[in-house]
Amino acid sequence: MRYTLQTPVMKVVKQAPPRAPSALDVATKLASLAAPRPLVPALDQARRDATAVLDQVRGTKPLSYRDATAGPRTVPPLAEVDLVDALLPRRLAARVQQTRRDARMVLGALRGRRPSPTVPRKPGPRSEVPPPAADVLPLARTIQTRPLRVAEVVRETADAVSLYLEELDGTPLTFTPGQFMSLDVEVDGKVLRRAYSLASPALEGHAPHVTIKRVEGGRVSNHLNDHAKPGDVLQALGPSGAFTLEPDPTHERTVVLVAGGSGITPIASIASTLLEVEPASRVVLLYGNRRHEDVIFRERLDALKARFGDRFLLDHVLQEPPAGWTGATGLLDADTQLARLDALAVPDAPTLEYYVCGPTPMMEATRDALARRGVDPARVHEELFTRPEDRSSDLPPAGPQPLTVRLRGKERELTQGEGETLLEAGLAAGLPMPFSCAMGGCAACKVKLVEGEVDMEEPNCLTPKERAEGWVLACCSRAKKPVTVEVPS
Ligand code: FES
Repeated sequence: MRYTLQTPVMKVVKQAPPRAPSALDVATKLASLAAPRPLVPALDQARRDATAVLDQVRGTKPLSYRDATAGPRTVPPLAEVDLVDALLPRRLAARVQQTRRDARMVLGALRGRRPSPTVPRKPGPRSEVPPPAADVLPLARTIQTRPLRVAEVVRETADAVSLYLEELDGTPLTFTPGQFMSLDVEVDGKVLRRAYSLASPALEGHAPHVTIKRVEGGRVSNHLNDHAKPGDVLQALGPSGAFTLEPDPTHERTVVLVAGGSGITPIASIASTLLEVEPASRVVLLYGNRRHEDVIFRERLDALKARFGDRFLLDHVLQEPPAGWTGATGLLDADTQLARLDALAVPDAPTLEYYVCGPTPMMEATRDALARRGVDPARVHEELFTRPEDRSSDLPPAGPQPLTVRLRGKERELTQGEGETLLEAGLAAGLPMPFSCAMGGCAACKVKLVEGEVDMEEPNCLTPKERAEGWVLACCSRAKKPVTVEVPS
């Protein structure tokens, strides 16, 4: 999306005053916990009726404990009542139902009516999608990419190239500064998926491009640096990612950006868009590189500096500076970062936001430096760049597993096929599972693990807090045993 000016809408909700739970409330709550599920609404109703009668006897106004936004409760017809659910306590009922489901699955498989968790499935609806290259068959059969044309290829440095991308139908490729694209690139007959940040300003009149720096041993980055040419068509997903900044022309703020090497790509988009859209805001950029000739977008950044003057503090830090270099030198470690912010006279303030992208040691150094500055981590935004070659590809092979997906209040039982991720299994079953990058980088596919165990590829973009809360990424998780997940609404 291009930047938009959004007016927050606040809804004021008047709430009934809280009331201390009575002995009756406590007793019925305990009873409803132990009771079979179909009896719970009746118990709840009985409690409300009794409370209303007591309140009337006492002459006080009865209070409603029911969420006013919830629809009326309905008692199901007797024919639809599941006797296991109705007569057994909930914990026992869940186990009996699971056993019943397993038995149904085995019987169905024997009769050839239902896919067995232990027999590979025949292609389902996914076979209607044109088959992509063999290497990504399971992925592409469920996750639909779209073609983007490479309109132009621009060499930025000896080791970095920019690909200008356009939609085949001519519609603008719009995005929020900081987002990335997932690109499928065929290398030696294999299709490999990689994420590259959009580095251009997210503004009308600026052609969107990604910039790819060679990585030692990186199959895709070297292939694109050596062989990409105008007219190439790449399959793509996105834009994706939450490492974003929404510019707002009415804002007046200072944003500190810290980048190392190719980490400049999302940072450059954020800097140029912000400077253009917010006339009262300032941008501070600390940018670390080994040598002067490694600096990606050197001329573009100089042009921004010349144009925006004091609103753009640009600070290059070089490890191996050329002769006559007067700027900062050394590694962009924690001490250097703190020293540079002091030298630029950028004190911390409660409104200051920090955006950080670069190699892992630099990111750790920034975390350390900002902690020493007393910066609240909530004001620090990080984009983690991981080499795909470093991702955990040695996960044990995932065999078929029963998978239950809770989505929009409904429960669907399906089977995760051989080698499929939770996302692929859900999409193959026709469920509208959310996703965007399909490679662990955006968290759009986050689901709550309710029961069971999964193997999840690492590293990915989940925060420690999200992990502790039981979230997993459906696009890079495979069930190890029967699993139940809940898709957030
Ligand atoms: S779809 Fe982006 S992390 Fe799963």
